[in-house]
Amino acid sequence: MEVNKVYLDDCIEIMRTLPDKSIDLVFADPPFNIGIKYDVHNDNMPYGEYYNWSEKWIKETYRLLKNNGTIYIAIGDEFAAEINVILKRTGFYFRNWIIWYYTFGQNQRKKFNRAHTHILYFTKNKEQFTFNDRDIRIPSARQLIYKDKRANPLGKIPDDVWQISRVCGTFKERIGEHPCQMPEDLLELIIKTSSNNGDLVLDPFGGTGTTVAVAKRLKRKFITMEISKEYYDVILKRLDGKVAEIKRNKKVEIEKQKTLFDIV
Ligand SMILES: C[S@@+](CC[C@H](N)C(=O)[O-])C[C@H]1O[C@@H](n2cnc3c(N)ncnc32)[C@H](O)[C@@H]1O
Repeated sequence: MEVNKVYLDDCIEIMRTLPDKSIDLVFADPPFNIGIKYDVHNDNMPYGEYYNWSEKWIKETYRLLKNNGTIYIAIGDEFAAEINVILKRTGFYFRNWIIWYYTFGQNQRKKFNRAHTHILYFTKNKEQFTFNDRDIRIPSARQLIYKDKRANPLGKIPDDVWQISRVCGTFKERIGEHPCQMPEDLLELIIKTSSNNGDLVLDPFGGTGTTVAVAKRLKRKFITMEISKEYYDVILKRLDGKVAEIKRNKKVEIEKQKTLFDIV
C-alpha cells in the first residue's frame, strides 16, 4: 500500500481500495451537515442520507483499523449523538467524549455563544490500544498550586475538556479559504497519544491537511483524501512547506470569511 499519500477523490471509494487492518489511527473531521459552504461537498443532506453516509465511512474505517487501532471523530452538537451510536453499533469501544472548548467562539445576540466541538474517542479493542501517557502529561494542580508531596512528579493526563483556540482568520497558522481548519495543537495531542513513530495515520476528510501535516512532523506515515481539487492542492502545498505561497495566492480577506464558527 502506498503511504504518505494524498488522494483527490471520495473517501469511501478510496478507503474501499485499501487493505484490511492496515491503519493505526484514524482522525476524522467530517462535514457536520450544518450548511457550511464547501467548495464541492453539499453540507445540507437530508437527515437519513447524512446518517447512512456517516455509517458507510465509519464502517470502512473499522475495516481498515488494526485490532489495536484508535479512532477520533470531531462532530458538532447536531449529530454528535448519532455518530456516537454509529460508532458503538459498528463495534468500536467507547473511551472518552472529549469537548474541545475553543476560545474565540463567535459572539451571538440571542443565544449563548457556540464555543465547543465534540471529539468522540473510541478504540477497536477494549484492552489493547496505544495510549502514550508519558508523552502528553501536564503539570497537575497538586504540583503547581497545592505543592502536595504526593503529586505524581510526571504530572497528570489531561482532562477530557481541551481548551485550544480555534484558528482565527488573523492567526499565522491560518492557511487560506477553507472554512474549518483545525488547530495543529489539537492534532498533536491526538497523534502523540494514540500512535507511535512510523505508525500509519488516516484522515478521510483532508480539508487543509492539518492531520497529515502534523503526522508528518511527528514522523508518522499518513494517508488522506479530499474531494475538492482546490483543497487538495492546499494539502499538497502545505506538506511541501509552501504555506506562504498559498497565502499569497489568495486574494480574499480571510478575516471576513464565513467559517464553521460563525454558524448560529
Ligand atoms: C471539516 S473539513 C476538514 C477540515 C480539516 N480537519 C482541516 O483541519 O483542515 C471536511 C472536509 O471534507 C471534505 N469532504 C467532504 N466530503 C468528502 C468525501 N466524500 N471524500 C473526501 N473528502 C470529503 C470537504 O471538502 C472538507 O474539506
